[in-house]
Amino acid sequence: MPESHDSNRQTGTAVHTRIAGTGHYVPRRVLTNGELEGMVDTNDAWIVSRTGIRERRIAAPDETTSDMASAAARNALEAAGLKAADLDLIIVATVTADSPLPSAAVHVQQKLGATCPAFDIAAACAGFIYGASIADSFIRSGTHRRILVVGVELLSRVIDWKDRNTCVLFGDGAGAAVLTASTDPGRTIRATRIFADGSLAPALWIPAGGVTEPTSAETVAQNRHKVRMSGKDIFRFAVRALSSASSQILEEAGLSAADVDWVVPHQANRRILEAVSERTGVPMERFYLNLEKYGNTSSASVPIALDEAARDGSLKEGQTVLLCALGAGIAWGSALVRW
Ligand code: UT7
Repeated sequence: MPESHDSNRQTGTAVHTRIAGTGHYVPRRVLTNGELEGMVDTNDAWIVSRTGIRERRIAAPDETTSDMASAAARNALEAAGLKAADLDLIIVATVTADSPLPSAAVHVQQKLGATCPAFDIAAACAGFIYGASIADSFIRSGTHRRILVVGVELLSRVIDWKDRNTCVLFGDGAGAAVLTASTDPGRTIRATRIFADGSLAPALWIPAGGVTEPTSAETVAQNRHKVRMSGKDIFRFAVRALSSASSQILEEAGLSAADVDWVVPHQANRRILEAVSERTGVPMERFYLNLEKYGNTSSASVPIALDEAARDGSLKEGQTVLLCALGAGIAWGSALVRW
């Protein structure tokens, strides 16, 4: 059971949000650029040079979003040394829930054997940063002490596999973090910033399947229930927005690019990150990249990369880690972590 929700306020001690454990899950099936060459008019050289992606993971036909989220969550709980029953909140960031109703989070709650409240948030690729930001506020305000945040996406089911503009980019996966109240400043979230600009909503969207265009034989025939993207518009916006969200959060913390040990960014496109590196002054060697292996897994990309960086020893105690992500919405954000 959660401890008293008022305990932070009662003791008066500064409470930090600790990243007590991280985890991830990716499906076994690997889809290579070479295989895509047989599916659409594309080639490995184009995909690698324009994006950096070499392969991605695809969920099995019987696998669901909440299955992947639960696997990542178990991994994170184990790393945190906690049980599902210890959680007092579950936040799942996803735009590919098991069904439109109810949330994916309630299925995750059941699969883990937890009893706490659970809800989804939809901020697309920025979902994990949005979720971490909400959890951080809840923990520091004292209302909750042990929150599971999952970024999970099963995009392969909402991709148009005949559209080479999108199908080569995305992959399936889940990443999770268990965030806990702590008085120790190690492995804590120092700050988060979230942003949105709905004026570019149609630049990356699924037109049908909501209430504006309910699913019908016609919407299915026209593939309007699949992802559509104007890549160039998103690319341009991403370079500017990710750079400013990163520079801003550093400046507000009294830090400069030279203080950043690692950037763990959303893994959409290597060229976007090279441009962000140039603009922010954080050298590319300090960007942790795994997009080569997984492609763009939307809200899962930052927590998967964070978990890999934690487990392979890249992240070291005391280091300053910058997270940043941007996607459909357009929604974006940044977070500063002291490892
Ligand atoms: O995570 C959510 C946020 N999403 C993103 O951050 C994605 C942002 N956008 C991008 O990463 C890039 O815009 C893309 C990778 C999607 C596209 O790269 P680009 O350099 O902007 O290419 P483009 O769209 O301008 O296309 C260049 C050419 C076009 O041919 P023409 O018109 O010059 O003859 C495309 O038709 O490349 C063609 N093309 C392809 N060729 C081979 C587009 N997709 C492919 C493909 N294979 N898969």
